[in-house]
Amino acid sequence: MAYKAAHLAFKSRWHKTDEELCRHSMSFVLHKAIQNDFFKCYLYLLEKLPLVKLYALTSQVINGEMQFYARAKHFYRHTRFKWHRGVGKAGTSRALDCGSGIGRISKHVLLPVFQSVELVDMMENFLAEVPNYLQGKEDRVEMYYCKSLQEFTPAPRRYDVIWIQWVSGYLTDKDLLEFLIRCQDGLKDNGVIILKDNVAREGCTLDCLDSSVIRDLNILHSLIEMSGLTILREERQEGFPEQCVPVWMLAMQKGPGHS
Ligand SMILES: C[S@@+](CC[C@H](N)C(=O)[O-])C[C@H]1O[C@@H](n2cnc3c(N)ncnc32)[C@H](O)[C@@H]1O
Repeated sequence: MAYKAAHLAFKSRWHKTDEELCRHSMSFVLHKAIQNDFFKCYLYLLEKLPLVKLYALTSQVINGEMQFYARAKHFYRHTRFKWHRGVGKAGTSRALDCGSGIGRISKHVLLPVFQSVELVDMMENFLAEVPNYLQGKEDRVEMYYCKSLQEFTPAPRRYDVIWIQWVSGYLTDKDLLEFLIRCQDGLKDNGVIILKDNVAREGCTLDCLDSSVIRDLNILHSLIEMSGLTILREERQEGFPEQCVPVWMLAMQKGPGHS
């Protein structure tokens, strides 16, 4: 709360400032003082409200939400398929593959376990490639959703597992938080959300090439906590060289307040 005093001083000064503004118009000194006070006041809010702090972190690096999403779409429009093959008491009826691409996770991870899968991705051409890529297992795909995750709502209580791999970094903090909340409603009883992604060693970094962010574990934990989900288990993927960005996998279930 180091900035509380400045925050209070700033609040009480506004009346005076209004009067002075009328009398002298905005002098340079006054302008500076307001800027200074505003900044301290902002810092106070950052300390006080974790959500403000969180949003500020990614918004600092993404440089505008519209551009952030447009750049990612542009990146995938010009990308050939560049990636290769590659709990709890949850049931095994149906899984949702989020940011599925051509269906790598569905093919190698989900279809060997679940009776059926559904895939959601923002790129139509990737989804169009899925039946071909699944090589004989495509009849177990119940639905394809060509949607951005920030606009997608999983149907209520439909999935045993919602798998979110290497796509969470394409969402802003706010959209990821809201998506996790909507996913919670999409889970059956005992359903589980799996989030697997690159995790920064500290803070949040932007990859300009594909317009994505890499968050550190603290930021991910804050978002998960705010969404009301409970972490069942988390682990760092082993076997990657130390120079590579760490990859973590988190398994989550509905929080106690969520029926
Ligand atoms: C790195 S690939 C990961 C694909 C797959 N999950 C895997 O692990 O093989 C990222 C995928 O997320 C999709 N994607 C990126 N931003 C998205 C968004 N906002 N909504 C839905 N899909 C998105 C891309 O089209 C791409 O297919």
